[in-house]
Amino acid sequence: MLVPIVDMGDGTYKADYIGLKTLRGPDEVKTLELEITNSGYYPYRCDKAEMDELSASKDRVDNLFMTVMRDTLTKWVDRAETFLGQLGVTCYLTGGNDDYQQILDAIHDTSHVKNADNKVMKIDGTHEMVNLGWSNPTPWKCPRDHSEEELESATEKMVASVTDMQNCIFNIHVPPIECGLDTVAKLDDSVYPPKPVFDKGQAVMIGAGSTSIRKEIEKHQPLVQLCGHVHESRGTTRIGKTLIVNPGSDYPDGMLRGAIVNIGDKKILSFQLTLG
Ligand SMILES: [Fe+2]
Repeated sequence: MLVPIVDMGDGTYKADYIGLKTLRGPDEVKTLELEITNSGYYPYRCDKAEMDELSASKDRVDNLFMTVMRDTLTKWVDRAETFLGQLGVTCYLTGGNDDYQQILDAIHDTSHVKNADNKVMKIDGTHEMVNLGWSNPTPWKCPRDHSEEELESATEKMVASVTDMQNCIFNIHVPPIECGLDTVAKLDDSVYPPKPVFDKGQAVMIGAGSTSIRKEIEKHQPLVQLCGHVHESRGTTRIGKTLIVNPGSDYPDGMLRGAIVNIGDKKILSFQLTLG
C-alpha cells in the first residue's frame, strides 16, 4: 500500500493512515513515515497538486507504486551489501507471492546479495539451493500466485540440475499442504476483502500449503525446506527425511522472526527459530 503524505503548504501535512491525521512539521512526518515503513507499506510525500493528479489517474498511481517499491528494494539491497560485505556473508534473496515480477527483475546481483529467484544456486562446496518465491492460488489473488501445475513444473525444472539431492536446500516460499506449518483461517473469497468462515462460532481452520510442493518434497527428499508465506504458522516439522522450517512473520509489530539452520554433509547439525 502506498500512503500519500500531503504537504498542505501551510506547514502542516495530511495523511490517511489508520484514520485521517494532521502532522505538524518534519519531525512528525518522519515519525509517521517510519511507522508506515515498518508496517510494510510505502509512505510518499507530495503536494496538493500532485495528489489531485494522482487521484485522477489509476495508471499514474500504479506507475508511481512500482517506482517506489523498486527504489525501496534497491536501497535495501545496497544497505545489505554494505553490511554483509564487512562480514563476508552472502544473502540469497527471493520475493514472495505478493511481490511483482517486474520489481524483482530490477534487482541486480551485488557481491554479497544474490537475486536467487527461480534459480539453483551453489551456496558452498557441498550444498545447492533451489529457490522459488511463488505460491499456489490464494484468496488475495497475488501477482505471483501460480497454479499447482506451474509450481510443480518450475520446481522440477530446477531439480533436474541438482547434482546431490541429499545436500540440497529447497528455499520455496509456500509450505507443503497439511504439514502443520500451513494452518490458516479459511476465507470466503466470493467477497472482497475475503472474510473468515465460521462454524458454530468458531473460525474454520485449513491447510493452505501446496499439494505439488508436498509431492516434490516426498519425491525428492531434500535436506531441508525453508518456507514462509503462512505468517501465523511458525514452527518446524519433518516430511520423511526432510526438515521443514517456517519462521513465521510479525513484521507489523517490529519483530523479525527467523531461523538458524546449521547444515553439514548430508545432515542437519542443529536448527533454531529466532526472534528479535
Ligand atoms: Fe506469501
